[in-house]
Amino acid sequence: MSAAQEQTKPSHTHIGVKPLQPHIGAEISGVDLRQPISDAVRDEIKKAILQYKVVFFRDQDLSPEQHAAFAERFGPLYTHPNTTRDPKIASIHKISAVDFSKYEKLGDPTAINAGFHTDTSWRLVPTWGAVLRAVNLPEVGGDTVWVDGAAAYNHLSDDFKKRLEGLHVTHDFRDALNRQGLDYPIVAHPIVKTHRETSEKILWVNFTQKPHIIGLDIAESKAILSQILDEYRRPEIQVRFSWRPGSIAFWDNRAAVHYAVRNYGDFPRVLDRILIQDERQYADI
Ligand code: SIN
Repeated sequence: MSAAQEQTKPSHTHIGVKPLQPHIGAEISGVDLRQPISDAVRDEIKKAILQYKVVFFRDQDLSPEQHAAFAERFGPLYTHPNTTRDPKIASIHKISAVDFSKYEKLGDPTAINAGFHTDTSWRLVPTWGAVLRAVNLPEVGGDTVWVDGAAAYNHLSDDFKKRLEGLHVTHDFRDALNRQGLDYPIVAHPIVKTHRETSEKILWVNFTQKPHIIGLDIAESKAILSQILDEYRRPEIQVRFSWRPGSIAFWDNRAAVHYAVRNYGDFPRVLDRILIQDERQYADI
């Protein structure tokens, strides 16, 4: 194959990949996730996730077992210590509106509370991926929004990028963990993380876990975090997904932050989420 042919070769040959927005989000077709997937299909899905940060599948009528078997092709599954679990498969976490409504009033008045977050960022090595499956959906509403953390970073002014250099932000999940009788420290991650696989710089703050920038006073920390929140809120770097029965979303938790739109009253919306562990990057020393 000539160099020119190599360049024009479609990057996916086993699946269809249709971008939904210029920065983030693509819909994948041509694969039946009820069946075991080949290594070639798995590699193309992973490539699409790295490129688009979140990918969506429609009309996949998966059982919990098929959901777990698919997710496991991308790494070992993680069992979350405090979400409600599927009675048969512990790695399936019930993301339930009823559970959220119990705790959403809890917050720290000194921190910025907003819905944009990443999953398990309170861990030293957060989970890398999440596969979310529609289970019980309201007639309308209950969309999920994902934000491209690299596009958010790239849009910052050079001065602001410089200001963020070396800063670490806290991810404090202790209230929820304490309710489970677990004692885990407050972890801080760099505000700008370098993605292990793509080398992109990612603006990575969890606004549901009392973020505070280490070493700054509350006012200065809040001022910087507000600017970051403004970035996340820009529709230009978001994709918004309307769930339907059979929908699946699969995202790179290291590259995107997400926001669950809770605009469906007291409807008991449920999605099943499976988290995939990342490679260990630190050892306890
Ligand atoms: C999540 O935050 O992991 C789930 C998103 C949603 O409920 O829409």
